[in-house]
Amino acid sequence: MKKNALISETFQWKDLHNHAKDVKKLHLKNLLQDPERTDAFFAEHSGIFFDYARQNATKETLKKLFALADAANLTQKIQAMFAGEVINTTEKRAVLHTALRANSDAVIHYNGQNVVPDVQKVLTQIASFSEKIRNEKHLGATGLPLTNVVAIGIGGSYLGPEFVAEALRTAPKQIKNASGRRLRFLANIDPVDVTRALDELDPENTLVIIISKTFSTAETILNAKTVRAWLCDNIKAPNDEIVRTHMIAISTNIKAATSFGIHSKNIFGFWDWVGGRYSVSSAVGMLPIALQYGMKTVHDFLAGARDIDTHFKTAVFSENLPVLMGLFGIWNSSFLDRPARAILPYTQALHKLSPHVQQVDMESNGKRVSSEGQLLDFQAGEINFGEPGTNGQHSFYQLIHQGRVIPCDFIGFIKSQQERKIEGELVSNHDELMANFFAQPDALAYGKDEATLRKEAVSEELIPHKVFEGNRPSSSLLLSELNAFTIGQLLALYEHRTAVQGFIWGLNSFDQWGVELGKNLAKKVRSQIHKTRTKQASIVDFNKSTTRLLQRYLDPSDR
Ligand code: F6P
Repeated sequence: MKKNALISETFQWKDLHNHAKDVKKLHLKNLLQDPERTDAFFAEHSGIFFDYARQNATKETLKKLFALADAANLTQKIQAMFAGEVINTTEKRAVLHTALRANSDAVIHYNGQNVVPDVQKVLTQIASFSEKIRNEKHLGATGLPLTNVVAIGIGGSYLGPEFVAEALRTAPKQIKNASGRRLRFLANIDPVDVTRALDELDPENTLVIIISKTFSTAETILNAKTVRAWLCDNIKAPNDEIVRTHMIAISTNIKAATSFGIHSKNIFGFWDWVGGRYSVSSAVGMLPIALQYGMKTVHDFLAGARDIDTHFKTAVFSENLPVLMGLFGIWNSSFLDRPARAILPYTQALHKLSPHVQQVDMESNGKRVSSEGQLLDFQAGEINFGEPGTNGQHSFYQLIHQGRVIPCDFIGFIKSQQERKIEGELVSNHDELMANFFAQPDALAYGKDEATLRKEAVSEELIPHKVFEGNRPSSSLLLSELNAFTIGQLLALYEHRTAVQGFIWGLNSFDQWGVELGKNLAKKVRSQIHKTRTKQASIVDFNKSTTRLLQRYLDPSDR
């Protein structure tokens, strides 16, 4: 591929477009009759079954997708990421979240320095601090143990940690480890979220973590000040003592955290080479997890993520799970015109996976230009959404079965975190859940035609309503159980899937300029609100529609 050329200019891209015309004529119910294809459309890595037989694709499609990956220099781009090259060019940064979970004796250079010892140093700091809190050596300002933790952060400083904490909450080992402890998250600037996060917490028992890479995010700083006021108003001790013992920070901006009042030894650092949405494996995610569940959970989680990192870096494309997942994302969205995809975990413990993947994927690949700044002539990025099965089945699956075509990821587990079997029932509760995990992909793929409905004596006027066209694609991921290790694996799988797609589309998946404009406009509105409320200043410099809305909002008779 020529330097600075768009991937869409390559022969391989155009070839896939032509090929898509043929594949659109094929139906999954026929493709699934080919046992050789079914054997080939499967990969397994370290206990994870990845079955993609229900993708609208042939063996030819796969070959062409691998050729596209080669044309995009996918292997070289993956290696460059792991090697700490400055691939986030607009921010002039390396992308080294994989170093956060590298083996302690690994050597990864950035700016001429091995970053692994720094990572290990922070892990040791996390271990020592969390043990002091959990063993009641570090107490609150009035001498009480700090059994509640409120983690304040937003975006990448919130979504990943909450996904991991929730996924572990019902795992048997972690239930034991978290006994007597509570972990809450506060993200939204909405004061309603403050009330929800602090509900029934005693400030004397509460440790607050301010998580912010920049320590300047408006939501996080206002929430941190609000919670600081709540602590200081309700604990009988000097304010600086309260902040010193009850508030800690995770940030790359040590100066700002210190001037907030956080004791320097209670600031957990990370580095500019860790992007916010890729920071779960840093102190951002690992400190809350260590406080709630202990260090063993942290090490197991990191080992799971590391397992996928090594696999991603070394496995050939045909066996490489994140590469295959990313290639099907490209195939479905860029060639089969399916801009959305659903993540459907069959366990309630993964109810925060989809919100996390939404940020990882949509903030990374929702871009309009290539890494070199050239306008893309195709749509990049995908609309990610999801909900655990079976809840989703009683909600949006109607649209997936008979409305729009949405490629799905079904994620299931052989063993439940919480096995239950009621006497007299045919199967256990988990088997009942998993019956749906196996049934839904086939219902989507095969559908139900008019002839079958007629055999079932369905009335003629209802037949059109009861027809399922089928031919709706999905992949199935089947894992042994949801534990710290497999949660780490899932995290890394979805991080790398996004990287694969960004690398092939030729984007910078590691910046996020698209979030800035709205933030800046909010500053202007904030200043107008202040002037109108305090000095009755009239609303100026907004368009007619916004002026009308602001006038209504600021009308004193409505307060
Ligand atoms: O607004 C988006 C964003 O910049 C994310 O990329 C980031 O994860 C989040 O805000 C929070 O930023 P910080 O950790 O600096 O508070």
